[in-house]
Amino acid sequence: MNKLWGGRFQKKTNKLVEEFTNSLRFDQKLARYDCLGSLLHIKVLRKAGLINSKEFAQLQKGLTSIKDSIENGSFFKKIDLGFEDIHSYIQTVLEQKAGKAALKLHTCRSRNDQVSLATKLYCLEESKILIENLHKLDSSLQQLAEANNALIIPGFTHLQHAIPVRIYDYFFAYHQMFLRDKKRIEQTLSNIHPTLGSGALAGTMIESDCYHQAIENLSHVKITSPQSALDTVSDRDFVIDLLHALSIIGLHLSRLAEDLILWCTKEFDFIDIDESFCTGSSLMPQKKNPDVLELVRGYTGRLYGNYQSVMVMMKGLPLSYNRDMQHDKEPLFDSIEIVQKELAVMAALLQNITFKRDKIEIQLDDETLYATDMADHLVKKGMEFKKAHHIIGELVQYKIQSGQKIVDMDNQELSKVHPLLKAPELKKIIDPKHSVDSKKSVKKVKWEF
Ligand code: ARG
Repeated sequence: MNKLWGGRFQKKTNKLVEEFTNSLRFDQKLARYDCLGSLLHIKVLRKAGLINSKEFAQLQKGLTSIKDSIENGSFFKKIDLGFEDIHSYIQTVLEQKAGKAALKLHTCRSRNDQVSLATKLYCLEESKILIENLHKLDSSLQQLAEANNALIIPGFTHLQHAIPVRIYDYFFAYHQMFLRDKKRIEQTLSNIHPTLGSGALAGTMIESDCYHQAIENLSHVKITSPQSALDTVSDRDFVIDLLHALSIIGLHLSRLAEDLILWCTKEFDFIDIDESFCTGSSLMPQKKNPDVLELVRGYTGRLYGNYQSVMVMMKGLPLSYNRDMQHDKEPLFDSIEIVQKELAVMAALLQNITFKRDKIEIQLDDETLYATDMADHLVKKGMEFKKAHHIIGELVQYKIQSGQKIVDMDNQELSKVHPLLKAPELKKIIDPKHSVDSKKSVKKVKWEF
């Protein structure tokens, strides 16, 4: 095998070692970014006078044709997985295309530098797609919220009936989460500074100005020479930041998934999910299961695990590059793929939900949902809140004991609990619309992503 480091070795690498150290199986995902990095690097080499214009042209032609084959997919059909990693493999393919000039490509360069740049470019590109996918999900959520604008459902704390809420406000809560997710990704993006020129760990013999002049305006991403070569080749904070942001997106999606899973149970019966987004059972003919939502909920464990695994892998590593760091890629790629898939399927699933208004109305008949509103009513009449809380508590207790509905009690009966409780007033209060309209503390803001 054409290794980048064969000279010092007299013996062939053990087969087990070759297999064990191989990362091409997964880091082929970085192929395009490795090529983009090399296309920039040859500009630097040319500027520094380390390759002539003919060599530059040969390298540029070779690298561009590799990049094209990566973009059209043919590169991956012929890939030889026996090579150590994507960086060594592209070097070898280039040697076949550009001949001797390719032997100069690795001048003033190390894979430690290459892998940092390529991974950063990958993170930058995927993050942009993540934000687009988050936006699509948020738009689906907004559509569903607006289509059911006037709909009210019981709100829960401790998964027990609490106070009625508008479905719009319910989804607006998730919108807030996705907005924070977007900001978290943007924050992560703003901390990613792709660089060229770290060498293995100590920088290179090329002037930093040379890097800046050569790579200026080459891409929409700003690439500079590093402020610290040691830090650049040692740093995987950006991977951890992104895995953290992805974990929180997973957390939010799992909560949304869980709400919807509950809502489509017979016990809640708030929603119907279209059949095309459900699956069945091989044994129980009647089943229509929300497997998509369960998988979304379940993926969260993998997202947290991926984040944890890179956190732990990086802990206590001495400067600078260590091969341990190769283990950042599988968790990173896995989490990115999971979340991109989740965002797409959830955006589509939200468009396939209908609310069961009649069933929800039955649940809203639960008079205890309005207990807080009744206590507020007594406060408006001048009673201390603690006392009002106690009296309405007694009213609820009386209702439970007597098995009666509050709306069926007359003034006389109500006065057994407290003389300030009046039947016509309570009737007005025991109403979902009255309840949500009486909440005024939340400042209405536009739904904007
Ligand atoms: N495959 C390696 C990684 O992903 C690339 C860097 C290898 N560098 C080295 N000095 N062995 O981290």
